[in-house]
Amino acid sequence: MNLYEHESTVVIRPEILSLPAYKQGRPAPADAFKLSSNENPFPTPAWVTEAIVEANVGRYPESTSRVLRDALAREWGCDTDEVIVGAGSVSILYQLIQAVAGPGDNVIFAWRAFEAYPWISTVAGADCIRIPNTPDHRHDLESMIAAVTPRTRAILLCTPNNPTGTGITSDEFHDLMSRVPETVLVILDEAYAEFSHDPDVVCGKNVKGQYSNLVILRTFSKAFGLAGLRIGYGIGPWNIFQAATSTAIPMVVTEQAQHAALAVLAHKDEAMALVKEICDRRDAVWTRLIDQGWTTPKPHGNFVWLPTAEDTDNAAEILEEGGIIARVFPGDGIRVTIAEPESVEPFLAATARIIAADMRH
Ligand SMILES: Cc1ncc(COP(=O)(O)O)c(C=O)c1O
Repeated sequence: MNLYEHESTVVIRPEILSLPAYKQGRPAPADAFKLSSNENPFPTPAWVTEAIVEANVGRYPESTSRVLRDALAREWGCDTDEVIVGAGSVSILYQLIQAVAGPGDNVIFAWRAFEAYPWISTVAGADCIRIPNTPDHRHDLESMIAAVTPRTRAILLCTPNNPTGTGITSDEFHDLMSRVPETVLVILDEAYAEFSHDPDVVCGKNVKGQYSNLVILRTFSKAFGLAGLRIGYGIGPWNIFQAATSTAIPMVVTEQAQHAALAVLAHKDEAMALVKEICDRRDAVWTRLIDQGWTTPKPHGNFVWLPTAEDTDNAAEILEEGGIIARVFPGDGIRVTIAEPESVEPFLAATARIIAADMRH
């Protein structure tokens, strides 16, 4: 029963009203696999659960995540002030865009890329400049550079790209950085970097400190299985992070999340062994998709992209009938997370049926 009889007449910003409601990856029925949110399929390791229970929830968290930033600074070979920690890397994205862009400014990103980019830019009051991906599902970096105007405040690069799985090469990245004004913030969103082993694909660790307008974003959500705790981090110039801290919701990173992230860093080798398991499974799945006749781009994250275009809704139905809940982008394609080993055969059986039904692939 509704508490209010009528809609509220409170005036809401028109650009916020124009945003479509955010759709979280659908929960899966008990007999289906939830492959819609690029989550880590492994049970929470003991080192994480032990770290979480040590945190005192009766106290506010340490607001600067100092100990974690010290540890990340050691790992990245930088100063603690050159590390920012947020409640997921998405919250750092919000903070950074709020800090640099407002009404009259614009933010450039590839489309499709991470679904949150238009939300984040619009909430800041900035215009979104979406640059369509190339036919092979990669960022069209030439067009992104050409789109820069004096109104541009930020460029978002997603590599590996969610949802298409493609990577930006080091050469492409350095070329872009050399041609974009130093006053424009470039964010290298590497939420899936730990799954990328292609030496040609740019890696934040190799380019850190080289550009005064570059921020590299990483997360503990994907490779390290802390999605539910909400914790991510950025590496970049201290003065950009000072501004981004001013736009943050205070004390939003919980003590449990900070402890868990430290535990992950202390058990990096074990965590990376699980990442390797996913990468091996992903490569095997991709090979079989290609054998089936799919034109799926080589995946660099923990997911594969099915370019089903106008057949997307019908293809998603076939996947769902086969017990696979994926992320569906109507008219465009389907993103499927590589997760439990038991999900592989039902997934590949469904993709074979999609091909047999003569849909776009
Ligand atoms: C490309 C990309 N960036 C950032 C994020 C945000 O991750 P989190 O806020 O969990 O760190 C995601 C999550 O799906 C993503 O796909």
